[in-house]
Amino acid sequence: MTGTMRLQHLLFAVVSLAALSLQASKDPLNDFCRRWGHQTAQIDGKLYIDGGLVAWNPISSNPLNYTNTWLLYSDLNSSATDSGMPIQHADLTKNSTVPSVSGGILWSDSVNKAAYLFGGEYQNNPADFSFWAYDVVLNQWNETKYSSNVDTLQRVAYGAGTQVEELGMGYYYGGWMNSNTSPGWAGLPMATSNLITFDMTSGTLNNNTGPDDVGRAEGQMVYLPASDGGLLAYFGGVEDPYQNGSFVAANMTQIHLFDISSSKWYTQTASGQIPESRRQFCAGATWADDHSSYNIYLYGGYGVDNVTGFDDVYILSLPSFTWIKAFPAENSTASSYPHGGCSANVINRSQMLVIGGWFTSSDVCDTANGKGQHNMHLGYNGPARSLWDKYDPKVSAYSVPTPIISVIGGG
Ligand SMILES: *[C@@H]1O[C@H](CO)[C@@H](O)[C@H](O)[C@H]1NC(C)=O
Ligand SMILES: *[C@@H]1O[C@H](CO)[C@@H](O)[C@H](O)[C@H]1NC(C)=O
Ligand SMILES: *[C@@H]1O[C@H](CO)[C@@H](O)[C@H](O)[C@H]1NC(C)=O
Ligand SMILES: *[C@@H]1O[C@H](CO)[C@@H](O)[C@H](O)[C@H]1NC(C)=O
Ligand SMILES: *[C@@H]1O[C@H](CO)[C@@H](O)[C@H](O)[C@H]1NC(C)=O
Ligand SMILES: *[C@@H]1O[C@H](CO)[C@@H](O)[C@H](O)[C@H]1NC(C)=O
Ligand SMILES: *[C@@H]1O[C@H](CO)[C@@H](O)[C@H](O)[C@H]1NC(C)=O
Ligand SMILES: *[C@@H]1O[C@H](CO)[C@@H](O)[C@H](O)[C@H]1NC(C)=O
Ligand SMILES: *[C@@H]1O[C@H](CO)[C@@H](O)[C@H](O)[C@H]1NC(C)=O
Ligand SMILES: *[C@@H]1O[C@H](CO)[C@@H](O)[C@H](O)[C@H]1NC(C)=O
Repeated sequence: MTGTMRLQHLLFAVVSLAALSLQASKDPLNDFCRRWGHQTAQIDGKLYIDGGLVAWNPISSNPLNYTNTWLLYSDLNSSATDSGMPIQHADLTKNSTVPSVSGGILWSDSVNKAAYLFGGEYQNNPADFSFWAYDVVLNQWNETKYSSNVDTLQRVAYGAGTQVEELGMGYYYGGWMNSNTSPGWAGLPMATSNLITFDMTSGTLNNNTGPDDVGRAEGQMVYLPASDGGLLAYFGGVEDPYQNGSFVAANMTQIHLFDISSSKWYTQTASGQIPESRRQFCAGATWADDHSSYNIYLYGGYGVDNVTGFDDVYILSLPSFTWIKAFPAENSTASSYPHGGCSANVINRSQMLVIGGWFTSSDVCDTANGKGQHNMHLGYNGPARSLWDKYDPKVSAYSVPTPIISVIGGG
């Protein structure tokens, strides 16, 4: 080791220690400013929030990004009178043995009352792959045994995933391998092209092929109870066709569909008001009672190339595969706060809680009062009859709202 290198290591150690001790004095609720890149799981009226990064209030005197080491939850049976958002708590167990990562997934399992942590990247110094379950009843993390169709699994980050609780299955498609996912990784970041499946009943974690050989990352995947066994819809993010460090924006007209019962992939082309290409946006799905339409709502995201990010909402309606712009209203003059790295969870098919995101062009905190939570009433049927509205634990109905009906027809 040369003298310079030793000095760099020493400085790094000092900076890391300083960052750790700074974080030690922070309160995950009262000092909150922003969170992004986290994982969420919804089980029995609680929305668990794990990992990701946080910034402390105010950013001007706390300029660093910190790994969120707390397991928090939002009580979905509550709505605070001041913020109109679910009340958050930070008193659950999580010690430093359990990975705290960004861009992974926390598959929820309401039957076994557990959430499974797969994938994700570290801020630095990644550890080898491990698979963990959080037991909701015992408030305890277990490193979990699994069987697999491959000898070893890798850590992958910012892929896209979801669970199908009716089937007891978790899915995670694509994602990056890089120096923060994989110990000793010296190459360029590389996006993977595989579909990882987790069978919650048998404990099998398999690595399967995706729609093609193209690596993809930073898109979104949602479950739709359409066709016989259900569909997964994947879109957005970036593609890594050359594996030389140059990636390209995915065309938002290309919707990749995985038919669960046949395990076959299809591609559909969407039309309408096509959103600009984006990465690390968040999305969730709902559907009409009679399943006449399935509507996927997306929010924000970072841009690709020269675009910093978005503060907008688009709806993709199936089976017509039509994109509809829902927010902001045409010619709106309200200020815009582009966000990337948010999470979205649909509650009772009627509301979608969007949490966090890194603001690309401002130092402001993300609604300190609401702890970075933002709520949509997907059917525009909340107290204010608008898309963005206060969270109401009692709402559980969805009917297709006018902005969709006026484009796709129907009632
Ligand atoms: C969802 O709807 C059901 C039935 O109306 C209700 O009991 C429940 O509290 C609602 N909220 C959540 C978070 O499940
Ligand atoms: C919230 O309500 C649901 C359904 O009514 C219930 O199963 C759950 O235990 C409640 N959760 C909390 C945190 O009170
Ligand atoms: C914090 O994270 C954001 C989003 O990834 C990044 O743009 C910013 O440069 C980071 N700040 C620091 C100090 O690392
Ligand atoms: C966690 O481990 C305990 C034993 O310590 C076991 O009883 C429990 O079922 C496990 N939970 C999960 C979700 O793996
Ligand atoms: C941390 O949690 C893990 C998993 O539950 C457990 O095995 C370990 O003993 C805990 N370590 C400490 C220091 O509490
Ligand atoms: C799945 O297998 C492919 C091909 O071997 C590999 O590139 C990828 O890293 C694997 N994914 C995981 C999560 O292990
Ligand atoms: C990667 O390959 C593509 C296609 O050949 C090329 O356009 C691009 O410039 C290459 N990027 C780098 C960093 O070499
Ligand atoms: C996206 O694909 C559509 C066809 O589905 C094409 O018309 C459009 O030009 C493509 N956009 C970009 C930016 O390549
Ligand atoms: C980004 O670059 C493209 C191609 O050079 C250009 O057409 C577009 O106007 C630029 N967008 C912004 C927001 O600068
Ligand atoms: C938005 O502005 C354009 C140009 O001024 C105008 O033609 C259009 O009617 C406006 N749209 C609405 C909904 O006001």
